[in-house]
Amino acid sequence: ENLRAFVAALPKVELHVHLVGSASMRTVTRLARRHPDAGVPADPAVLRRFYTFRDFDHFLTVYWAVQALLRSAADIHELVVGLARDLAAQNCRYAEVTVTPYNHLLDGLPGDDLLAGLASGRAAAAAEHGVELAWCFDIPGEKGPVAGRETLVFALRNRPEGLVSLGLGGPEVGVGRAQFAPFFTAAREAGLHSVPHAGETSGPATVWSAVHDLGAERIGHGTSSAADPRLLAHLAEHRIALEVCPTSNVRTRQVESLAAHPIRRLLDHGVPVTLNTDDPPMFGATLNGEYLAVAETLGLRRAEVAQLARNAVHASFAEDTRKQALL
Ligand code: ADE
Ligand code: ZN
Repeated sequence: ENLRAFVAALPKVELHVHLVGSASMRTVTRLARRHPDAGVPADPAVLRRFYTFRDFDHFLTVYWAVQALLRSAADIHELVVGLARDLAAQNCRYAEVTVTPYNHLLDGLPGDDLLAGLASGRAAAAAEHGVELAWCFDIPGEKGPVAGRETLVFALRNRPEGLVSLGLGGPEVGVGRAQFAPFFTAAREAGLHSVPHAGETSGPATVWSAVHDLGAERIGHGTSSAADPRLLAHLAEHRIALEVCPTSNVRTRQVESLAAHPIRRLLDHGVPVTLNTDDPPMFGATLNGEYLAVAETLGLRRAEVAQLARNAVHASFAEDTRKQALL
């Protein structure tokens, strides 16, 4: 119980959370009532069952259904502010939030409305909740190089305040990282950081490709790196942090249980590990919950728990002065 209070009081940052996946149960049920055609349950108990995933592909199908509920700048604004409120309540004052503009555009949300909702939500997050939000615009990999080009163009043409990185999400199997190399090269030349998902649903070769082909500075998940000692050494030596999302991995059935998660092995090899939620209400996860569960499962001492929180500050793309304030 003491540990719970320690985790709650610990200043934390969140580096891997998808905006759509951060929508609270209340927000989703409200939007689902407004848009009954989307096929998302408007009843909380049914929605909880809807959030029981058979496998990763099933999870993505559900995620896309929720994504399609977002139809206006006001919807985006509400999500952003709701996320900031949830973060502030957990003593998290800085987060890098993944947004997938190409998917929203395909779902009929105009780009200007998306940008307006992000900007007004971000301002309200800072003013009302004292939370600084940064954006990662990510490519939905399953939609191929077209999505890569469109995401890059959208990012660089609009360059919204707070945009720090280009990401790559969706399925990994059959979606080679290397095909997106030109977009990551252009993004890095324009001053954006490289943060692709890799090694969540496929093996360490995908992580190697993210590092070599996409210049990854952090890796979304990266859990399968544990199977490759050379890769672990590379990540440790080059201080390439992994955005580990333990509950997500259990709920999408990538690992059997928290106890079976390779996080201990990652730590033992000196890999910079950070703890994150991915899609918190969809997985029944919270940032405090991730810290607590990992601390209990691994039997971490308080100093080790605090180190995990510091890892995330160091691995963040916050300004140096901001990092000092967050430590
Ligand atoms: N989109 C939302 N959550 C995701 C995840 N965990 N992996 C890949 N794409 C995602
Ligand atoms: Zn993710």
